[in-house]
Amino acid sequence: MADKISVMITEEDVNAKIKELGEQISRDYEGRHLHLICILKGGVFFTCELAKRITVPVSLDFMQVSSYGNATSSSGIVRIMKDLDESLEGEDVLIVEDIIDSGKTLHYLIPVLMQRNPRSLKLCALLNKPDRREADVTIDYLGFDIPDEFVVGYGLDYAQKYRNLPFIGVVEASGDE
Ligand code: IMP
Ligand code: MG
Repeated sequence: MADKISVMITEEDVNAKIKELGEQISRDYEGRHLHLICILKGGVFFTCELAKRITVPVSLDFMQVSSYGNATSSSGIVRIMKDLDESLEGEDVLIVEDIIDSGKTLHYLIPVLMQRNPRSLKLCALLNKPDRREADVTIDYLGFDIPDEFVVGYGLDYAQKYRNLPFIGVVEASGDE
């Protein structure tokens, strides 16, 4: 049986927010070139939709990280599973991530990327769970603050499922498989 998923943020609201973020980013980076770093896999849907709403020239690169820990809490020790293809030297870089939860992943990653001498480095996240924060992270562009609930959709998974949902949902109950 399928899991029951309730809608937390509708497709319309997510898309409207991404359009807004795209407009804000386009204004802020006017006259510049923006290098987007998509954090795989969760950031991929958000990155694509956001990139389409940005009007300044954009390039894309991808990075996959994994933090040691169990399903619900990250240890803060982050391993780079797939590194960027291109240099960040002199680039205006914007990291695009699905969600900031404990903050440990980005708290680790931002200084690592700063060492690669970008011209600027900012963070854009679709979702933020402020109640869960354990490590300091500045989110420069944010979609939504959400309560401490496990969400899926728009790139976010539950055991690798539901990334393709066009809305943000909460897995209510798991049926017998
Ligand atoms: P952090 O290091 O705790 O901020 O970890 C953030 C990562 O944990 C995100 O990139 C997600 O991959 C994952 N994550 C955190 N909360 C959720 C959630 O509610 N649903 C799905 N994945 C989540
Ligand atoms: Mg992630």
